[in-house]
Amino acid sequence: MEGANRLEEAKKREERIKQNLSKIKHKLVVISGKGGVGKTTVAINLACGLVNKGFKVGVLDIDFHGPNVPKMLGVEGKQPLVSNSILEPVEAIPGLKVMSLALLSNNPDQPVIWRGPLKNVAIKQLLGDVNWGELDFLVIDSPPGTGDEPLGVFQTISGLDGTIIVTTPQEVALMDARKAIGFSRELNVPVVGVIENMSGLICPHCGKEIQLFKAGGGEKLAKEFKVAFLGRIPLDPKIVENSDSGKLSCLGDSRTSKFLQEVVDNILERVP
Ligand SMILES: Nc1ncnc2c1ncn2[C@@H]1O[C@H](COP(=O)(O)OP(=O)(O)OP(=O)(O)O)[C@@H](O)[C@H]1O
Ligand SMILES: [Mg+2]
Repeated sequence: MEGANRLEEAKKREERIKQNLSKIKHKLVVISGKGGVGKTTVAINLACGLVNKGFKVGVLDIDFHGPNVPKMLGVEGKQPLVSNSILEPVEAIPGLKVMSLALLSNNPDQPVIWRGPLKNVAIKQLLGDVNWGELDFLVIDSPPGTGDEPLGVFQTISGLDGTIIVTTPQEVALMDARKAIGFSRELNVPVVGVIENMSGLICPHCGKEIQLFKAGGGEKLAKEFKVAFLGRIPLDPKIVENSDSGKLSCLGDSRTSKFLQEVVDNILERVP
């Protein structure tokens, strides 16, 4: 009896996922091979750049072990409203909805210890049990690598617009980014393009650029795999400051804003 109920609930959820996804025009997944290359920074700033252009955007955080989106968007501690078991996403700025496991937990220091199947259920809940409403874009922020979380999203969302590959310029990051491109292709999810983050450091004193992690690797990678190069974002201490304090770099007067804008424009050209 309990098994039958669970089956019924799962069927209803699949139906809600379908309905929810039909109201979201574009779905993008931000992935990388390596950790710490700036996926979350790119995801939230891309979302905010799209909001600035008048689009309605959602950010879904599927990094269950290290959900940083709420902190970086300045909505940490906000509780999503629940009615009839459906969650309302939290609004970071007008037009920007957010959902993350971090918004559903009472203790930010509590680790999530889950194997793959549980992550799959969580992904389905975040897609089916959240009232995303009408959106132009859903930007999905992944944990590093080619594991359960992006795989779960690829398998749950048919008609993804594609993946955005974030890398830093040095070879060790590019090595892993190649795998991320291969992963996307193997699962028939188009690659929208590559972003080279932490590409040069603009000295806060003299304004000149230092190639801390080298430069140009992301562009070369894009050429090698015949995918679009979506732009570069320099290292900027302001970005660290902003993400620690939950301020969006693309909203501020950061020197990086114009680079972020260019990335947004390039993505819009490919995902009209
Ligand atoms: N262009 C940049 N300039 C300066 N700092 C940056 C830049 N991009 C990201 N950072 C900083 O680097 C750190 C890691 O970035 P972020 O959390 O976005 O990476 P990530 O790829 O999402 O990491 P993870 O793999 O853990 O999810 C953050 O403190 C962020 O503020
Ligand atoms: Mg992250």
